[in-house]
Amino acid sequence: MRTLTGITPSGTLHLGNYFGAMRPAIEAQTRGECFYFIADYHSMTAVFGPEERRKNGRGIALDWLACGLDPARSVFWRQSDVPEVCELTWILGSVTPMGLLERAHSYKDKTAKGISPNFGLFAYPVLMAADILLYDTNVVPVGQDQKQHLEMTRDIAIKFNQTYGETLVVPEPEIREDVAVVPGLDGQKMSKSYGNTIELFCDEKALKKRIMGIVMDSRSPAEPKPDADRNLAIQILKLVAPAQASDYEARLRAGGLGYGDLKKALFEHTWNFFAAARTRRAEIAADPGYIDRVLKDGTERARAVASSVLGRVRRAAGLD
Ligand code: ADP
Ligand code: TRP
Repeated sequence: MRTLTGITPSGTLHLGNYFGAMRPAIEAQTRGECFYFIADYHSMTAVFGPEERRKNGRGIALDWLACGLDPARSVFWRQSDVPEVCELTWILGSVTPMGLLERAHSYKDKTAKGISPNFGLFAYPVLMAADILLYDTNVVPVGQDQKQHLEMTRDIAIKFNQTYGETLVVPEPEIREDVAVVPGLDGQKMSKSYGNTIELFCDEKALKKRIMGIVMDSRSPAEPKPDADRNLAIQILKLVAPAQASDYEARLRAGGLGYGDLKKALFEHTWNFFAAARTRRAEIAADPGYIDRVLKDGTERARAVASSVLGRVRRAAGLD
């Protein structure tokens, strides 16, 4: 069983990305073969600076390796290092109905926001289908926001198979419904577009400042808080310190635990939660060739699968 995930190189990671996407994807390594790639072709519809693209790609590789992506066990590469995916995109695009793409939420949302669409944005779901189908993927773990893209991938695979005979593996989505939406510092969903994030790898002082700056209500420390479960710090503590969170919640509910002390505890648990990843990240960063070696090895392994699947597609379609 092969699991595949594309990682959008979108800047600095926050707790929402970690608990919502990264941790479940990394845990999938314990269940079977995993393919992970840095989706740099996909970034071309949003990022227009070459240096920024390179930097984001390396940054995200560093973060994922630090957080437990194990290159001995998994295949990790940069999407554009296996350009066969572009050929498959064209072939799949030719069996993809316009209407299917016109119904894409992500495309409709972006154009509604006034972003003037280019062909890349419109064709994004076809490239994503090619990402998945090029590797005979069985399972794709994604957030709720990607559900429609997975349905389109399945539709495109089925359409290709109907047209040219059984060729492509039709993948199953694994939608992470049990993963809670991590709240941001203002109580909305944590998101970099709302500027309400707690970053994974900022320095100690910045993390402390961020957490101590969380605004709470004006009730005195002694006052019991029957709504303790809705407190933002408690909700985040449940993620970074699941064993201790209920104790803090009980103390807050009963009265006697001040918000300052609660935030201090949240800071300490958050800092400690990522201690091992931070150490690993510094080690990797100190060896500049390491990421290149990992991605080169991953490219070779990914490419071996890609060539074989593309060969099958070409034969089925009469492109041989
Ligand atoms: P942002 O909202 O900061 O731009 P992205 O859209 O780049 O984040 O998110 C990448 C992935 O991280 C998403 O597919 C989603 O599954 C996950 N994610 C992002 N924010 C959260 C959150 N607050 N809670 C849970 N998961 C999240
Ligand atoms: N579109 C996905 C996102 O924005 C990233 C992605 C690209 C992806 N190709 C993929 C995810 C293939 C899973 C499988 O998060």
